[in-house]
Amino acid sequence: MAGLDQYPVQSAMHPSSSWVLVTGGATRLGREIALAFARAGWDVLCHYRHSRIAAEATAGEIAALGRQCRLIAADLAKPDAAQDLLSLCAAEVHAAPRCIVNNASLFDADDAASANADSLQQHFATNTITPLLLANALALQVRAQSPDSHGRHCVIHLLDQKVHNLNPDYFSYTVSKLALERSVALQAQALAPQVRVCGLSPGLMYLSGPQTQENFDRASRVNLLQQPIDPAAVARAAVFIAENTALNGCTVQADNGQHLVPLARDVMFAMGENPAP
Ligand SMILES: NC(=O)c1ccc[n+]([C@@H]2O[C@H](COP(=O)([O-])OP(=O)(O)OC[C@H]3O[C@@H](n4cnc5c(N)ncnc54)[C@H](OP(=O)(O)O)[C@@H]3O)[C@@H](O)[C@H]2O)c1
Repeated sequence: MAGLDQYPVQSAMHPSSSWVLVTGGATRLGREIALAFARAGWDVLCHYRHSRIAAEATAGEIAALGRQCRLIAADLAKPDAAQDLLSLCAAEVHAAPRCIVNNASLFDADDAASANADSLQQHFATNTITPLLLANALALQVRAQSPDSHGRHCVIHLLDQKVHNLNPDYFSYTVSKLALERSVALQAQALAPQVRVCGLSPGLMYLSGPQTQENFDRASRVNLLQQPIDPAAVARAAVFIAENTALNGCTVQADNGQHLVPLARDVMFAMGENPAP
């Protein structure tokens, strides 16, 4: 019989010394996730691309919570973005982040007729390739710096209820998130035992693309609870995943049950007032 010393001992949680990297952390869900981690005692590496002023405001809110926040600018569509971003993080905090939340994403409207190589490549670059390479690069860092860190580090890939509830709208975006969703279990296997990999699938939380406010107000209730999804609740699910070492290779669906309400089109087009792309 195997002795207990042959099994990995989980590290105690030390949130006070933990950094989380949140991509696209300046606004909307990324801001909520950054604040939720800060409220839970984490320090935040807040990535942004264009939203410098909003990122500074988020950093101010995190400082007011008594946590540290460092701002890091990067275009995640570039081929070397993952390695460059982790190098920038290392320059700031001299250690690998304990958690990476791949939240930044491109969400441009198209369909099978209008999708082309460029739209697919753009969505894959930002939504799939860089998140996957960030996770791989984190695992390499953790293996080098703290090989006995069994599951203390984790990567959370932001997905979408769309990947569990398909319709043909937002074709390039959906394919890029489907690839990321299919990679969750694969990457959890590949990066074990040092790094856990989980998915987090929200539903409609924010007005996006061509959507009108009136359309959003109606569409945001198209879920089992018939009320808007609270982004702060989704953000708390990210913290829960990061702090619960039992979770690995799975996806948490935080969408008021929207994935159980099938529609023939994206909910914003199913409402009828928004023009199809
Ligand atoms: N919004 C929803 O209702 C909804 C529903 C389901 C799932 N989701 C998922 O939840 C996550 C957050 O959604 P969201 O609506 O809050 O996101 P968002 O506002 O559409 O995008 C978040 C951030 O991504 C950054 N970004 C986009 N392209 C980038 C690039 N090439 N390089 C670097 N940064 C880039 C932008 O940063 P800058 O502003 O700094 O340029 C942007 O602020 C996404 O992964 C999304 O797929 C959202």
